[in-house]
Amino acid sequence: MFIRSIHLENFRNYGRLDLDVGPSVNIFYGNNAQGKTNLVEGIYVASGITSHRTSKDLDLIKFGENEYKVSLDLTDDDGSNPSLSSCYYSEKSSLSKNGRAGRILIRDNAPVDKISEYIGVCNIVIFAPEDLNIVKNAPAYRRKFLNTLISKISPSYFNLLSNYSRLLAQKNALLKSIKASDNMPDMVDEQLDFWDFSLAELSAEIILKRYRFAKLISGIASKHHGNISGGKENLSVEYSTIFGIVGALETFLTKNSKYDEYMNKGLSEGDYGRITGIISDLVLAKLKSVRNYDIDKHISSIGIHRDDLVIKLDDLVMKNFSSQGQQRTAALALKLSELEIIKMFVSSTPVLILDDVFSELDKTRRMSLVSAMKDAQIFITCTDKNMIGEEIDVMGGFDRAEFYCVNGGNITKEVR
Ligand SMILES: Nc1ncnc2c1ncn2[C@@H]1O[C@H](COP(=O)(O)OP(=O)(O)O)[C@@H](O)[C@H]1O
Ligand SMILES: [Mg+2]
Repeated sequence: MFIRSIHLENFRNYGRLDLDVGPSVNIFYGNNAQGKTNLVEGIYVASGITSHRTSKDLDLIKFGENEYKVSLDLTDDDGSNPSLSSCYYSEKSSLSKNGRAGRILIRDNAPVDKISEYIGVCNIVIFAPEDLNIVKNAPAYRRKFLNTLISKISPSYFNLLSNYSRLLAQKNALLKSIKASDNMPDMVDEQLDFWDFSLAELSAEIILKRYRFAKLISGIASKHHGNISGGKENLSVEYSTIFGIVGALETFLTKNSKYDEYMNKGLSEGDYGRITGIISDLVLAKLKSVRNYDIDKHISSIGIHRDDLVIKLDDLVMKNFSSQGQQRTAALALKLSELEIIKMFVSSTPVLILDDVFSELDKTRRMSLVSAMKDAQIFITCTDKNMIGEEIDVMGGFDRAEFYCVNGGNITKEVR
């Protein structure tokens, strides 16, 4: 898959941008704060809706405006030419019918209702300084890493997540309202039974996917980590969820000799039904056991919204014990595993973005990165275009590279 042209309207510091790009290496250079990251963020948002650096959609709208639009014209490996367009508007926009912010997604010139029908079209893997957050920051960053990866491979997972978030928000609203009201407690209990049952069912399906992909990430990231670091330390990734669940899942898989089947192609319908049944019963029991506590505190203290990936170097949890250099190598290995897993499951070649990463990596890490990127379309941002020479050769050669100067929200393509 490659992008033929990019269109941005009122996105970050771009008023309007219509840019044709080359099918292999595209290098965007310019001083700080000119719009290099904003451009690649625009590309990333157009392909997958969420930004790699903020969860606040409103921040993406150009200051003083009420909506942005980002669009991509693409060519897929089979020769077809899909197009994607995503518009986000604030509550002040004339597009808002109910006084709320919202989004309009268009695929091949027709509106799509479900995000899952949009996000599978163009896969992009982005490498950016923010990747360090996966290793050193709060669990939410690791959940985002895992969720993004699984959603790219299985858009239906995205639907599971949004259903879960919606139900959880409704349950939390009920938990918050409890003290204020007084027509309790039977009705509230029944209502909570209903939410918990539905949440437990969704949790089981989400957990099954997360466990499998965490295992895949662990194996592949560990291999990349070994290559980059010379094999001195071992990187591992463990899925951490509601207490007792991983043990029950592993027992089921080993007892029935289903581990390989589950990892390689997924379980049969019968086994899938049995294990989701076992997990959702366990989740439901956990939710019931904390109900009084949750009512008292007005929160959902237990659930897959608290899941984490435990990233370890040998036996030490990296978040607590690791140097900046170790974190960089681990983050890079994790992102390379994302790329490799997407290539394993998705037939069309993903597009790659390297946002300002070369300056922070030493030679070994730079070469590990670029040697994973042959034959793909690549977008690179940097402040000094002369800093990347050998890397471009590894990625396919200077003669195929296009250079663009980014200056105050304007982009000029170098004439060759
Ligand atoms: N919503 C926005 N509207 C207008 N300008 C913005 C918006 N968000 C960020 N900017 C501006 O974009 C600039 C940073 O652009 P960025 O692409 O991150 O720079 P760089 O070229 O260093 O990667 C800053 O000057 C910032 O003020
Ligand atoms: Mg930048």
